Amino acid sequence: WLFTATVLRASLTVARPSSPVSHFFTWKPPGPNDVVRGPCPMLNTLANHGFLPHSGQNITEEDTVSALYTALNVNQSLGVFLFHHAITTNPAPNATNFSLYDLRRHNILEHDASLSRGDYYFGNDYSFNQTIFKETRSYWTAPIIDVEMAAKARLARVHTSNATNPTFTLTKTGRKFSFGETAAYMIALGDRATGTVRRAWVEYLFENERLPLELGWSRRKKTITQHDLVDMLRKVVNATGSSSEDASLMIRGGGFHAGL
Ligand code: HEM
Ligand code: MG
Repeated sequence: WLFTATVLRASLTVARPSSPVSHFFTWKPPGPNDVVRGPCPMLNTLANHGFLPHSGQNITEEDTVSALYTALNVNQSLGVFLFHHAITTNPAPNATNFSLYDLRRHNILEHDASLSRGDYYFGNDYSFNQTIFKETRSYWTAPIIDVEMAAKARLARVHTSNATNPTFTLTKTGRKFSFGETAAYMIALGDRATGTVRRAWVEYLFENERLPLELGWSRRKKTITQHDLVDMLRKVVNATGSSSEDASLMIRGGGFHAGL
């Protein structure tokens, strides 16, 4: 039966032109029937490729885990962990799915001082904003971004938001996510061992909401775990230095190292 199963699987693979891997080669921006994309450049990207439902709606645990694994080699437990955060943004009680649109709800997961989105106070916390991203990019001063540059870019956004937004807030969760997001682009696109990533790939992802395949990126060979994420997050925290962030901020939700 093993032989039969193998043959069957092989023929199924051939017979299904829309098997998940083919999504690397399909990409379509959101159309009129798709919900407006959300504040996460990577989930938007995965929906644009069709790894996630192109509609951006009713995204289940299975959709999330399989998209993150197939596109990015994120393991199942990290996929499940992220999904459980995601559904907290769905206002329906006992929700079992989320939409990209839900993710924008302020101070659930969405937070101030994003790398490429404006603060909620200024009206739009979910669309790519070239002015904001220009500030972030200006700290990526070489073709290869290292942890220092990544940390500086993030910190600059925190300082700018704090100086310009009278309602500036980073909750404990917001702060964890903020560091985690910087860690996420380093890991998903770059080299977690050296803590580096090609700048052109990161800019391409943010600006096009498309995987930077045509620039030579490919799915990381080594599976991405929660351990990898926490490890990189700590590196970004350490490169930031507690005094440079805490000193100037009105942080609500605890001290710098709280909850990390
Ligand atoms: C931002 C959710 C997976 C990269 C965000 C934000 C949310 C979010 C709510 C907005 C935070 C803000 O800036 O205010 C999620 C969920 C995920 C997920 C629920 C999985 C189910 C990923 C993955 C990556 C990623 C796998 C890998 C690269 C980013 C980055 C940002 C971000 C770089 C920061 C955008 C910015 O600051 O402008 N994500 N995300 N996310 N996410 Fe995701
Ligand atoms: Mg934000």
